[in-house]
Amino acid sequence: MLITYPLAKRVEVKEDKSVSDEDVLYEAKDGVATITINRPDKYNALNTSVVLKLRELFEKAEDDPNVRVVVLTGAGEKAFAAGADISEFKGKDSKTIRPRVERGQELTKFIESMSKPSIAAVNGFALGGGCEFAMACDIRYASANAKLGQPEINLGVIPGYGGTVRLARLVGLGRAKELVYTGDHITAEEAHRIGLVNRVFDSIDALREGTMELAKKLALKPGVALKLAKQSLNNSWQMGLEENLGFELDVFTQTFDTEDKVEGVDAFLTKREAEFKHK
Ligand code: COA
Repeated sequence: MLITYPLAKRVEVKEDKSVSDEDVLYEAKDGVATITINRPDKYNALNTSVVLKLRELFEKAEDDPNVRVVVLTGAGEKAFAAGADISEFKGKDSKTIRPRVERGQELTKFIESMSKPSIAAVNGFALGGGCEFAMACDIRYASANAKLGQPEINLGVIPGYGGTVRLARLVGLGRAKELVYTGDHITAEEAHRIGLVNRVFDSIDALREGTMELAKKLALKPGVALKLAKQSLNNSWQMGLEENLGFELDVFTQTFDTEDKVEGVDAFLTKREAEFKHK
């Protein structure tokens, strides 16, 4: 029987009056939804409104059959996102901060487990929650000016949107501990060297171009196979070898019942480009 990787629980965001449509922008074109955090004056700091809006827009992208790939980025040339909005920390205690952190964590789980691939285009500072949202995406591209890190320790707190978990899994426990304990920022080049970002571009324009190139490439791949590959790869984080291999076997065989498999194999054998229908 097919094991499914559950999607994060959906939350009703429309009821929250604090959501501003301007804080996060959305554009869907050529099968690619681009979600842009839009508070450049505040280095795209993640206040409650931004997190709620991001959740709404990631759900929108997941539900739109014309969207095949999602890109997450920040407006301007300074920041992807410089972390949680620190002004919202003031006056909060463990009880009053908890729902906010849960909401952010839920969002990272949603991004990670959604059926479509996501790319973070890191166009500047990706600190704290910014780095954590980037790590929830499947692939990270960065511009050379980008700086990444988990500086929460300098505020007397720790990462709360999965930073102690995903960073360790991406770059190894020793490097993650160094980054979380020191709170230091690292350059895009260093992030690339340790596997935190997949690719570095000379400029922000080149980053945006390279990200769209990848997104459009993925948008043409067979959607069902992409989704199942993503699920199986994600499962490697939480399943043992036997169970994960069993899952891979199940979903591999499932791809043989898709129209895209018939098209892909026929296109190869008749030496033509495949045209996938994502079915
Ligand atoms: N929360 C709220 N506001 C933030 C912010 C954050 N995480 N990061 C940046 N900003 C705001 C600044 O308050 C400033 O606003 P102002 O112009 O109204 O004063 C504006 O963004 C620009 O930041 P500034 O610090 O003046 O720019 P800088 O180039 O000197 O430094 C950073 C940039 C990113 C290194 C610095 O802003 C910083 O360390 N931010 C906090 C990062 C952090 O700790 N994130 C984890 C939070 S848990």
